[in-house]
Amino acid sequence: MSGGRQRVGIAVLGLGWMGQAHSRSALRIPSLFPERAVDPELVVCADTDPERRERAVRDFGFARAVADWTEAVGAPDVDAVWVTAPNMVHIPMIEAACAAGKAVFCEKPIGGKPEHAVAAHRAAAAAGVATGVGYNYLWAPLVLHARQLIASGQLGRITHYRGRFLSMYGSDELGLLSWRFQLDQAGYGVTSDILSHSVAQAMFLLGPIEEVIGMRETTIRRRPLPQGTASHYGRGRPEDPHGEVENEDFASMLCRFAGGATGTFECSRTMVGPESQNAFEVYGTEGSLAWNLERINELQYYRRGTHAETGYTTVFGGDRFPFHGAFVPGQANAIGFEDLVAIEDYAFLQSLATGEPFSPGFAEAVDVVAVQQALIDSWDSRTWQPVPAWREGNRA
Ligand SMILES: NC(=O)c1ccc[n+]([C@@H]2O[C@H](COP(=O)([O-])OP(=O)(O)OC[C@H]3O[C@@H](n4cnc5c(N)ncnc54)[C@H](O)[C@@H]3O)[C@@H](O)[C@H]2O)c1
Repeated sequence: MSGGRQRVGIAVLGLGWMGQAHSRSALRIPSLFPERAVDPELVVCADTDPERRERAVRDFGFARAVADWTEAVGAPDVDAVWVTAPNMVHIPMIEAACAAGKAVFCEKPIGGKPEHAVAAHRAAAAAGVATGVGYNYLWAPLVLHARQLIASGQLGRITHYRGRFLSMYGSDELGLLSWRFQLDQAGYGVTSDILSHSVAQAMFLLGPIEEVIGMRETTIRRRPLPQGTASHYGRGRPEDPHGEVENEDFASMLCRFAGGATGTFECSRTMVGPESQNAFEVYGTEGSLAWNLERINELQYYRRGTHAETGYTTVFGGDRFPFHGAFVPGQANAIGFEDLVAIEDYAFLQSLATGEPFSPGFAEAVDVVAVQQALIDSWDSRTWQPVPAWREGNRA
């Protein structure tokens, strides 16, 4: 305890894009949230890449960095573990953290296949440790506001939901064959990587999904092989040796929500044009809402009667909405991607100190991957598939 606040020693496993984002959260939380109940401390970073380990200590201020993640998980000065390595190493990391009694925050999708999230949930429940999962877009202040508008009945009865996550990260044929394109490192492709965000967002806003049908495609089947640690944003050359893409570039899905609404979803990493279009539209009998990550600080709102002549109104983000004021005061002063990561990390850390339950955790991730499993089943059967009731409460 320091100043009435609880110290939480943090291990970060994998200092890539998201490991760095979460580490910066730990550094920023004290100045962003002075009313906090917790003081995060960057204790140890584990990464197989020596340059990343050097950066961890030099640039982020971790007390130490190790190559073997098992050393980090078991360290007595670590209270909570952030799992930010490629998907297919999530599960051994989570199981070890649970066995050591540490709280675990894991990046989505928790492993690469639906059964992995189920295994993670089982391990955490058996150990009784707190869990969090990185569906960071749920924490966007205007998404939280959208949820509140829907719950309050402002849109009437919800009849339809459109979700999409169209990213260009794999749209260049010379984009490297990074871990995301390989079965043994990523598991499934876009359904694990980005449809997971869309489905989590839909269920956060509208509740459980009952049945689905969909299709998939791999549009770019060979890519240049990387040398060393490679990001999916890296580029190779035509003359470089190429390897096979082993998972899907595109998936679409029709669904029915338990509340009666119909839903349509699309996700792709290879379409040219949409750069990071994580978006949703919600249609009700009295109005509708639309939000798009590319315009993270704007919510489109239409209400029958009120907007009949003007059409949609743009609601700008601002400190009247949850968490926004921690970053910048006033209205229409923008916040960004890493601010959502800071919000989720703050909320998770607070829950560790106060004992309040945190959501989304591994239980909610099981609900999301149950939908993914039904979609996968529909690829083979070419028929509508019920969402498996893997967890009490994930169905109506
Ligand atoms: N929530 C989001 O918006 C979001 C965005 C990007 C990635 N992600 C998720 O975060 C996770 C990491 O993705 P990323 O884009 O940050 O990956 P990345 O490729 O940028 O970084 C992965 C890091 O893990 C390290 N690593 C690999 N194997 C390791 C091992 N066995 N032990 C320790 N370190 C190891 C690599 O050296 C690298 O530094 C994935 O599960 C991904 O789905 C989430």
